[in-house]
Amino acid sequence: MTVVRPAVLDDADQLARIHVDTWRATYTGLVPDTMIAALSLSGSVERWHEVLPITPPRHCFVALDLAGDVIGFVRRSPSRDEGATRTTGEVQSLYVHPGHWNTGAGRALLDTATQELRSDGFINATLWVLAGNTRARRFYERCGWRTDGRTKQDQRQGAVLDEVSYQRRL
Ligand SMILES: CC(C)(COP(=O)(O)OP(=O)(O)OC[C@H]1O[C@@H](n2cnc3c(N)ncnc32)[C@H](O)[C@@H]1OP(=O)(O)O)[C@@H](O)C(=O)NCCC(=O)NCCS
Repeated sequence: MTVVRPAVLDDADQLARIHVDTWRATYTGLVPDTMIAALSLSGSVERWHEVLPITPPRHCFVALDLAGDVIGFVRRSPSRDEGATRTTGEVQSLYVHPGHWNTGAGRALLDTATQELRSDGFINATLWVLAGNTRARRFYERCGWRTDGRTKQDQRQGAVLDEVSYQRRL
C-alpha cells in the first residue's frame, strides 16, 4: 500500500530530485538533448520553494515508500485550458521516480488527485501528455482516461513538443 499525503515545504529537495531524475528517464530521446542537458537540480529545488508556498491546500500530494521517503508527486488544479468550463479539473503533473515504477504509486497518486477534484465539485478532468510518452499514455488508458481529440504544440526552449489531451468523467 502506497501512503499518499499533501506535500509540505520540507519535501522540496526530494520533489526536485524526482522531477529531474524522472524527466531524464522519461524524455531522453523524446525531446531535444539540449533540454535534458539543461535540467538542473538546484534550479528545480528553487522552483519548488517558490511553488509550494503558493499552492492551494490539497493541490499537491506526495507518495511515500515504506521508509517514508518521497517517491512521487501529483499536482491538480482547475483546468488551465482556455475556454474550459468551471466544472473541469486538471491533473497538471504526475511523476513517480523510475526506481519505483510499477509498484502502484502512480495509480495511488492519480486516484488521490481525481478524488480531490471530485470532492471539490469538478465533474470532468483533463490532462496533457507528450504524444510520444507511450508508458504514460498506456497507464492513463488503463486508469480509464480517454483521448478527447485535442492536440497542441508546446513551444519550450526552442523545441516544439506535440501533446495530446486525455479526459475522464469524475
Ligand atoms: C506514468 C507513471 C506516473 C506511472 O506510474 P507507476 O507508479 O509506474 O504506476 P503504477 O505502478 O500504479 O502502474 C503501472 C503498472 O504497474 C502495475 N502495478 C501496479 N501495482 C503493482 C505491483 N504492486 N506490482 C507489480 N505491478 C504493479 C500496474 O498494473 C500498471 O500496469 P499496466 O500499466 O500494465 O496496467 C510513471 O511511469 C511516471 O512517473 N512516468 C514518468 C513521468 C510521466 O510520464 N508522467 C506523466 C506525464 S503527463
